[in-house]
Amino acid sequence: MQLSTVLAVAICAISAHADSTPLLDALKTRANATKFAEFLEANPDILAIYNSSSVQTIFAPTDAYFTAPLRRRDASSQQQQLQYQYTNQLTGLENLAPPALPGAVVHTGLTAPKAGGTQATVSEKVTANSTTRRRQLVGTTGIRMLSGLGNSVNIINGDIPYSNGLIHSTDGFFTIPSPLSTTINSTGLSSLGSLLSTANLSSTFDSADSVTIFTPSNAAFSAAANSTGNAATLPNLLSNHVIPNFLGYLPALTDGATYQTLAGETLTISIKNGVYFVNGAKIISSNTIISNGVAHVIDKVLVPTPTPVFTGGSASLSGGNSVIMAAGAAVFALLMI
Ligand SMILES: *[C@@H]1O[C@H](CO)[C@@H](O)[C@H](O)[C@H]1NC(C)=O
Ligand SMILES: *[C@@H]1O[C@H](CO)[C@@H](O)[C@H](O)[C@H]1NC(C)=O
Ligand SMILES: *[C@@H]1O[C@H](CO)[C@@H](O)[C@H](O)[C@H]1NC(C)=O
Ligand SMILES: *[C@@H]1O[C@H](CO)[C@@H](O)[C@H](O)[C@H]1NC(C)=O
Ligand SMILES: *[C@@H]1O[C@H](CO)[C@@H](O)[C@H](O)[C@H]1NC(C)=O
Ligand SMILES: *[C@@H]1O[C@H](CO)[C@@H](O)[C@H](O)[C@H]1NC(C)=O
Repeated sequence: MQLSTVLAVAICAISAHADSTPLLDALKTRANATKFAEFLEANPDILAIYNSSSVQTIFAPTDAYFTAPLRRRDASSQQQQLQYQYTNQLTGLENLAPPALPGAVVHTGLTAPKAGGTQATVSEKVTANSTTRRRQLVGTTGIRMLSGLGNSVNIINGDIPYSNGLIHSTDGFFTIPSPLSTTINSTGLSSLGSLLSTANLSSTFDSADSVTIFTPSNAAFSAAANSTGNAATLPNLLSNHVIPNFLGYLPALTDGATYQTLAGETLTISIKNGVYFVNGAKIISSNTIISNGVAHVIDKVLVPTPTPVFTGGSASLSGGNSVIMAAGAAVFALLMI
């Protein structure tokens, strides 16, 4: 490397570190996010937060991806959207794509009492084995951010400096997380949606505090319905897909880790060539953020051992739940016809 190049790099690093460009100027002139900047200006309370040390990293949709309907939303939902687009940590691209992990959990400014205090978005390095393939990558960073309803946005340009931190320009807004039952229905997991409804467990699962839920695909339920000897009760079966009081975003799941489900059974995580499994089921789409935790789509139903293991309290949702405890529900296999 030539000396002049070394000097240029060094000067760049220094100026990036001691950048004095104000937020709105940086959004407009460096991040191609003029409309996002104007949207902030129209929300003065939130702009004050963005312009303070409480915000150090911003995910700003560029003008090409700024959606007009957002402006028609009420003030409260506009503010929620803007709270979801920042974090108070300095989070550069190198933090979003750590070498040893599939991504990173980013805690944003959006309040979420049932998801650990504030809502998360999770980064994902786009590889051949990425579990989310809903959108083609348009950026050059190779990183996308996963949010609600199974949606993701790509980081087009990252590490754009401004006076208080960094801007990552994106090809869309994060999707504000919805309750589990809404998320399931809008992402096409109709078998699980119907079963939750049949078992009257939708609102129980929606209101549980900090859950990780494995959501079997429709094909998984269809295959399970065909297998014989499946005598689990429906509430028992569904509860076996929920890990209570644990936010298991993909980067938090480690090879060999075990967790107890609401049904009292043990689930074991394994990772093979970057592919994640829970017991025998493969995670085929990860990190759908829900209002009370995170959901991962799996390709098999996690059938509990034949004898229901509810023993009165060892596995109860916060607030108690008589529905799960009542083991007299219809046999799972009958409901699959
Ligand atoms: C942001 O804060 C700085 C002082 O820290 C102030 O000079 C500037 O006017 C503020 N900008 C906006 C848009 O509020
Ligand atoms: C900024 O956005 C405009 C409009 O979409 C696009 O034509 C232009 O190439 C973008 N510039 C950069 C530097 O991303
Ligand atoms: C989800 O879909 C199922 C089956 O159509 C329905 O019974 C249930 O009420 C729906 N739940 C929500 C929250 O829309
Ligand atoms: C369904 O569950 C709710 C609690 O989530 C309960 O209040 C309600 O009575 C249950 N409905 C039936 C029909 O069991
Ligand atoms: C389940 O069995 C039915 C009837 O035998 C068959 O048509 C269907 O393909 C099977 N589904 C799976 C996933 O094996
Ligand atoms: C992707 O998965 C395949 C099969 O599981 C594996 O052979 C390959 O090494 C993986 N590639 C990466 C980049 O993890």
